[in-house]
Amino acid sequence: MITHIGFFMLSEKFGRKIGYCYQKELNFLFKIFIDMKRIALITGATSGIGEATAKLFAKNKINLILCGRRKERLNALMSELSPMVKVRILSFDVGDNIQVNKKLNGLEEEWKNIDILVNNAGGAHGLEQFIDGSIEDWEKMIDYNVKGLLYVSKVVIPWMVKRKKGQIINISSIAGKQTYSNGMVYCASKSGVEAISKGMRLELVPHGIRVSNIAPGAVDTEFSMVRFKGDKEKADKVYKNFQPLIAQDIADCILYCVNVPPHVQIADMTIFPAAQSDATTISRTI
Ligand SMILES: NC(=O)c1ccc[n+]([C@@H]2O[C@H](COP(=O)([O-])OP(=O)(O)OC[C@H]3O[C@@H](n4cnc5c(N)ncnc54)[C@H](OP(=O)(O)O)[C@@H]3O)[C@@H](O)[C@H]2O)c1
Repeated sequence: MITHIGFFMLSEKFGRKIGYCYQKELNFLFKIFIDMKRIALITGATSGIGEATAKLFAKNKINLILCGRRKERLNALMSELSPMVKVRILSFDVGDNIQVNKKLNGLEEEWKNIDILVNNAGGAHGLEQFIDGSIEDWEKMIDYNVKGLLYVSKVVIPWMVKRKKGQIINISSIAGKQTYSNGMVYCASKSGVEAISKGMRLELVPHGIRVSNIAPGAVDTEFSMVRFKGDKEKADKVYKNFQPLIAQDIADCILYCVNVPPHVQIADMTIFPAAQSDATTISRTI
């Protein structure tokens, strides 16, 4: 009787161990299989957060559709990442709905099976009081950050709805949660992104599509060079005397969002550098 129980306990333990290893192998194979099959479309892949995300996704075997206006950078990125995954590049201005439609609808059918859409293209233009602000700058921020995101999503979402799956990552900003002086239009555009993320989630969850809103604090990219129209001294000052985030930090968060199990949806993520506590409070001590 005792031998029987002992044998039973041993074989059960052994069986569970084999089962556990087998399960681990299966999970591993399943993950590779899924990752190999996934396609991500990233807007604003030519620099900063978008470029870092493209590189990280490639390392994780996610096939890529990379978008941006600067063709030479897209070509360079394609040469770098093609040995790892399949890469398709599309050069267009997200603020131009005709270009967006032409380029995206021109994709070969197999590339339209987009699993992950990273709406990242955009940025800030100018940092002035409203009375001194340039209407041209305001139009760029509304056109790229809000309308551009909508134009791209309008084409891609129906493809996801048809397949009853997909993940959308919208890159907002702490500026979308807190308005600061001299930046009201940028803040308004990113508040718009926040509202769109919430609205997309409400409407798309029933279709099996998950929506994540990512709000970074200060990240050292070309963001400030663009905001200050190439004035390097002004741009460098933004990141002086503290350690800002780097694009890779945000790419890590994006990868986390797209790698959670299918029953998990990261709705919102705000990421600051350790030295930052709100949109405008940064402890500059270095
Ligand atoms: N850096 C920060 O501190 C920070 C903080 C919070 C949120 N964000 C947000 O993060 C996103 C990425 O910015 P980043 O920091 O990585 O800045 P970045 O290095 O300047 O990258 C911006 C990207 O957006 C693309 N882009 C801009 N306007 C476009 C347009 N009209 N059409 C197509 N592509 C366009 C750019 O590509 P092309 O010029 O080649 O078109 C570039 O690839 C932006 O939405 C930004 O608002 C940044």
